Amino acid sequence: MNSEKAASEHTPVETSVPNAALGTEPTAEALLEGATPAKPFMRTIKSFVKRAGRTTAGQAKAFEDLGPQFLLSYQKSSSDFQTIYPGAADEDYRPIVLEIGFGMGEATAKIAATLPETNFLCCEVHEPGVGALLKRIGENQLTNIRICAHDAVEVIDHMLPLQSLDGVHIFFPDPWHKTKHNKRRLIQSPLVAKLAARLKPGAYIHCATDWQPYAEQILEVLTAEPLLKNRALLSHPQLQGYAPKPHYRPLTKFENRGIKLGHGVWDLVFERI
Ligand SMILES: C[S@@+](CC[C@H](N)C(=O)[O-])C[C@H]1O[C@@H](n2cnc3c(N)ncnc32)[C@H](O)[C@@H]1O
Repeated sequence: MNSEKAASEHTPVETSVPNAALGTEPTAEALLEGATPAKPFMRTIKSFVKRAGRTTAGQAKAFEDLGPQFLLSYQKSSSDFQTIYPGAADEDYRPIVLEIGFGMGEATAKIAATLPETNFLCCEVHEPGVGALLKRIGENQLTNIRICAHDAVEVIDHMLPLQSLDGVHIFFPDPWHKTKHNKRRLIQSPLVAKLAARLKPGAYIHCATDWQPYAEQILEVLTAEPLLKNRALLSHPQLQGYAPKPHYRPLTKFENRGIKLGHGVWDLVFERI
């Protein structure tokens, strides 16, 4: 819920983890800010702030009961995700979709129920949100979700092999409205290049936002990525690069709030060439 208000209410978390501008390489900006050869990574720009939020008793119970089965530890080595879901030993191949920033997980749980043959790897840093999704997994008896409660950028960098994903979902990423905060936006060219490299040929990336300037930025960076092509351009030329809402994406809390505020909603669906 990083609205402009929320952003101004929180002190951004900036660490010295070797990661800058949503990647592992130091940016020119980071280097200018005092990096030395001995300490080359001075500063990290994160796409999130750690929000305060109370974990409810129900969420805490879900952590305890379901955490061991559904939480994946972040590690600095690549994983064969195919093997961690039920059905891995079956003849039938099951697609794997990465979701970045599921919030309280209501859309994630609905999509996982709608697409039971797809396995979802879901990243979120907001602990009550992780508890909330665990609770929904239990309530809906979902088996096709695994959660990594860690910065998705680091998960992509260290855990995801090239050409390992069948899809990526990024729904209502924090818009970081203020110009001085735009650099925190998740969807920028370096991250899109990493995601494209981790998609299999023919796999998709689906983003949605209710903030028009961010929609325009997303359209620009996805269009500029040489490994991607816009699925909607041919099928829906009248939408000028945007896509109709795919059937599996339900309305989310953030989307409903945006609609009430009179915002539009933009879906973007691109495909790995
Ligand atoms: C505005 S909320 C949207 C939540 C949800 N997708 C929805 O539509 O209701 C964005 C979420 O992304 C999460 N987030 C932002 N950057 C992230 C990152 N690098 N890794 C994991 N989660 C991230 C935030 O914690 C926040 O919960």
